[in-house]
Amino acid sequence: MTQELILGQTLAFTADPFAVPPDEAVHHSSRGAVLIEDGLIAATGEADTLRARHPQARVSDLGRGLILPGFVDAHMHYPQTGIIASWGKRLIDWLNLYTFPEEERLADPDYAAEVAARALDLALDHGTTTLCSYATVAPHSVDAFFAAAGQRGMRVIAGKTCMDRPDTTPAGLRDTAQSAHDDSAALIARWHGRGRASYAITPRFSPTSTPGQLEALGALWAANPTCLMQTHLSEQLDEIAWVKGLYPEARDYLDTYEAFGLLGERAVFGHAIHLTARERARLREAGAGLVHCPTSNSFIGSGLFDMAGLMAEGQRVGLATDTGGGSSFSMLRTMAAAYEIGQLRGAALHPAQLLWLAGEGSARVLHQAGRIGRLAPGAEADLVVLDLASTPAIAQRAARADDLWQAVFPTIMMGDDRAIAAVIVGGRRMR
Ligand code: GUN
Ligand code: ZN
Repeated sequence: MTQELILGQTLAFTADPFAVPPDEAVHHSSRGAVLIEDGLIAATGEADTLRARHPQARVSDLGRGLILPGFVDAHMHYPQTGIIASWGKRLIDWLNLYTFPEEERLADPDYAAEVAARALDLALDHGTTTLCSYATVAPHSVDAFFAAAGQRGMRVIAGKTCMDRPDTTPAGLRDTAQSAHDDSAALIARWHGRGRASYAITPRFSPTSTPGQLEALGALWAANPTCLMQTHLSEQLDEIAWVKGLYPEARDYLDTYEAFGLLGERAVFGHAIHLTARERARLREAGAGLVHCPTSNSFIGSGLFDMAGLMAEGQRVGLATDTGGGSSFSMLRTMAAAYEIGQLRGAALHPAQLLWLAGEGSARVLHQAGRIGRLAPGAEADLVVLDLASTPAIAQRAARADDLWQAVFPTIMMGDDRAIAAVIVGGRRMR
């Protein structure tokens, strides 16, 4: 057995800070420690107590660093790493001009492997230890991602993006209802539950699938109910109008999925901004997960996610970069954008809520709660340690802090990869 003690400040959630006051939801120690045993968190507590109890453990002292569960990015597109920050287009034009041509380039397996490695290394640089990613239509792009994550020991979720509609998809990115079903089934057999990998059945969104493909993927999900199903929902008003034209018989956008068995508690819907009352009610009844992608929603001009309203009505919500529609690999920058969008809607999210969304919130949406996103015994030892004074601008503001929230908020708002003091994956120091 290997034992390691990581010393620093610790912040562990004992409850959901959207449900109870944030100060009641956390346990904070300014001189804390996390004991890691064989890749799992064995204990958290006061540094002196744990050192006395485990004198043989190797010690890594991170000083005033804030130890948190590694960030969980609940929706991203690793193939879009190279086109992040592409100028001037809204969703449909952005997909056609930048995204689809880049995804076509991953038809080259060597390029897919290179981009997968780069995306995961950038994620680690930014303190993200788990990602739930779309691949491209090419099955080998899923293999590339899971292989690269396996080499790094990371817990990841991904799926082959399915798109078969001839009038909306370029020929080089097109599958069929049958091949999408069969290729996804083969990938599930190869990867789902292998090491730290799990599979998400991934229709891109209803405008790029035929009804026949959505039906085939609904059947595949019914046959593989432990898989997630991820897709996009109600991101932009133009997109919603487009869906209405393509699916005239559907009651609303969600119904284009619901009608084909693509709604359930393991469904994960990215964006979910412009929802009708019926959609909100059905999402909640089904227990589906919603993912807020705030840098993407402002970058592509999509709209303002209703975090306060959705949380108040009991929806499950996670947080994500949506790389490369999102404009940052950083979950800190993503929390900042979530805060700003909250302000534009009249609801200031507390730092506790932002940090919780990037860990436990995303883990719950991905059905990984208890395993990741949590600083608690039994969870996998995926950790990020934040330097709360990583730049002069942040340091001078944090120096005036009276409590932990004031100390961490400047890093949430102004921090980036320079704030990442250490990253641990499965108990192994990566950064
Ligand atoms: N809707 C369908 N595909 C995509 C995508 O790749 N990114 C975003 N932001 N929205 C989408
Ligand atoms: Zn997306």
